[in-house]
Amino acid sequence: MKILITGGAGFIGSRLSAELVKLGHDVTIFDSLHPQVHFLNETNYSIAKASGAKLIVGDIRTRDDIQRAVTETSPDYIFHLAAETGTGQSFDHPTRYNEVNIIGTTNLIESVRSSEMLGMGSVRRIVLAGSRSVYGEGACVNMEGRPTAAVARTNEDLSKGDFQPKSASGESLTPVPTAADICPVAPASIYASTKLMQEYLLTQAFWGTQTEVGILRLQNVYGPGQSMSNPYTGVISIFADQIMQGKTLNIYEDGEITRDFVYVDDVVRAFASTVALESFSDEIVDIGAGEAATILDVAKEMINLVGDERNGLKITGNFRAGDIRYAIADISKAQALLGWTPQVSVKQGLEQFSKWAKEDQA
Ligand SMILES: NC(=O)c1ccc[n+]([C@@H]2O[C@H](COP(=O)([O-])OP(=O)(O)OC[C@H]3O[C@@H](n4cnc5c(N)ncnc54)[C@H](O)[C@@H]3O)[C@@H](O)[C@H]2O)c1
Repeated sequence: MKILITGGAGFIGSRLSAELVKLGHDVTIFDSLHPQVHFLNETNYSIAKASGAKLIVGDIRTRDDIQRAVTETSPDYIFHLAAETGTGQSFDHPTRYNEVNIIGTTNLIESVRSSEMLGMGSVRRIVLAGSRSVYGEGACVNMEGRPTAAVARTNEDLSKGDFQPKSASGESLTPVPTAADICPVAPASIYASTKLMQEYLLTQAFWGTQTEVGILRLQNVYGPGQSMSNPYTGVISIFADQIMQGKTLNIYEDGEITRDFVYVDDVVRAFASTVALESFSDEIVDIGAGEAATILDVAKEMINLVGDERNGLKITGNFRAGDIRYAIADISKAQALLGWTPQVSVKQGLEQFSKWAKEDQA
């Protein structure tokens, strides 16, 4: 297959490029090499360069750049990963997030349509790197165990130290594993809103055409290569950086914020498995480890793996706009449809990440 990967020099994309080349595909990477992502982090770009994929440097915000990539490669499949990815930062730069994630996606759509009109044949499938952030608080049940929608947590509740998700009527809820077919979307950040818009735009643009659109909604992806100098990457690399600087880790809320940390190689296998599917049309698949870990436990484990006696932990009770309380994927659809199960436990993954972080820092 001829495969185009937008954002293919990034953390997930570089490994996906290498994996798809290894499987025998003709892969082209399209990436702007965004300085915030690549500055002081050679790992992912090195993997992309060594992968054997062709590299086109361009900006998805510029229609001519992405048009050139689509026209030159005439892809059978496109994996759309290029994005601005920081949840917190998205509140400060809504236009930038909109331009890359939303306008970038419409530029991709128009480029695919134009090349079809020029008689270059249809793109068979576009697979989007979606995000679990589109769920907001995610699936919950009430005291009787009935599925009940959670609303965004209020500043007032959080200020009182009441961190539990609640229903619209104020009833305390218990989170449960989240799956696309049972949980309505309710994005709680600008980043999440742009990721949801990407899903809508692609699905609507190619509805009823020969181009299938499939979406993998990813939980928190981590692993070697995740930037430690970019303050907007995941919490594990932020902890590693702070630990190595001998800092105390400040833990938000009461430490019981829970995430589903999924190892990058597992995510790459999930993306790669979609290539062989007979059909992947209008499917949304949740990708996670299916294993819940509290931020406090991860912080302790990271200190154990990379820290020393200088490091401490402080549970601050502070909170942030857009943070959700609990995230864990229901991965039964990924298992059934993709034949995929995660293979790296959080413990093994943290060990791999810590080893790389120490080497990278050195
Ligand atoms: N990492 C996670 O935990 C996670 C979770 C959910 C969803 N996702 C999604 O997965 C995708 C990949 O994430 P990642 O963690 O590999 O991020 P990343 O930042 O490492 O990779 C994104 C790549 O896109 C490129 N890029 C950014 N702006 C661009 C532009 N204007 N034009 C062209 N290229 C541009 C960057 O240079 C980078 O190489 C993103 O769409 C992200 O929203 C990631």
